[in-house]
Amino acid sequence: MSAEKQLLITGGAGFIGSHLAQACLERGHRVRILDNFATGLKKNLEGMEVDLVEGDIRDEALLAKIMKDVDGVFHLAALPSVPRSVKDPFASHDNNITGVLRVLIAARDAGAKMVFAGSSSAYGDTEVLPKREDMPVSPLSPYAVTKVAGEHYLKAFARVYGMPTAIVRYFNVFGPRQRNDSPYSGVIAKFCRAALEGEVCKIEGDGLQSRDFTYVADAARGTLLAMEKEVPGGEVINLAGGNRISLLDLVNSLSKFCGSQVRVEHGPDRPGDVKHSQADVSKALALLGFKTEFSFDEGLEKTLEWYRKEHPAPC
Ligand SMILES: NC(=O)c1ccc[n+]([C@@H]2O[C@H](COP(=O)([O-])OP(=O)(O)OC[C@H]3O[C@@H](n4cnc5c(N)ncnc54)[C@H](O)[C@@H]3O)[C@@H](O)[C@H]2O)c1
Repeated sequence: MSAEKQLLITGGAGFIGSHLAQACLERGHRVRILDNFATGLKKNLEGMEVDLVEGDIRDEALLAKIMKDVDGVFHLAALPSVPRSVKDPFASHDNNITGVLRVLIAARDAGAKMVFAGSSSAYGDTEVLPKREDMPVSPLSPYAVTKVAGEHYLKAFARVYGMPTAIVRYFNVFGPRQRNDSPYSGVIAKFCRAALEGEVCKIEGDGLQSRDFTYVADAARGTLLAMEKEVPGGEVINLAGGNRISLLDLVNSLSKFCGSQVRVEHGPDRPGDVKHSQADVSKALALLGFKTEFSFDEGLEKTLEWYRKEHPAPC
């Protein structure tokens, strides 16, 4: 796909979506955003020239209207979070599965390509590391089920309609604009807040659980590459750095950037959670020429700096 396309980002007022919007604008694309602000915020788009449509991805008539001139759709809108889906599986199903199908049909009818935000939760708790895209999926939570269902729909639409689709699997994305004010916030967002406010970081389990934490600018750049490059229809691509950082490592890095030891408290394991996660990133390199540019510590330092400016506090 060449430059200057009309792109639609569902969930574009959210954390990753707003960084993706920025990356698209920097590449000369025109950006339309569809968001119902369930978790996204208007202020995430401050200073960006985007066509912002407030509405729901399950609104068929609205989708048909805003999709007409669109060349490509990034489908990021979803109710994220494993614990949220454990508490209310129907809401996750409705937003994430009915939602993806509505958007997919509208994108197909508009002749647009679609890139879907998949999740490493698709891999479940396999002990095989790193996780390769050709491993069988094993969703352990209602949220993971919704993300896997979305992937299958994109694969099926590529197969039966010849629609250009691609799936990027994110692995614990973190960075500026990630919300830290909800019980469903990501662990880095929560720990940055706790560290800056001098509070205790609450670790669920022993803290040895590890994740392939990915800085959001890298995730956004990789997602845009999946739109711009021609990839086989329905291809699943891990977008991550290929590293593994434990929660105890995270606390140590936070302590280093705060200049004092961050306090921790251990609680019980989280239901439906996986112990370790690490991506095999060779496919992203082969198909997209993608490699992360930010190390974990570089990303964490930038993130902490952003939270410090947003919520000035003692640390
Ligand atoms: N953050 C991560 O580490 C991570 C990891 C794996 C996958 N993902 C996926 O990436 C995508 C973006 O995640 P995020 O972390 O930026 O979350 P986010 O909550 O910040 O963004 C989701 C956006 O979708 C919007 N939205 C939700 N339901 C909607 C609906 N029915 N209609 C219109 N808009 C709706 C929200 O208002 C929000 O702006 C999600 O699909 C998520 O499942 C994220």
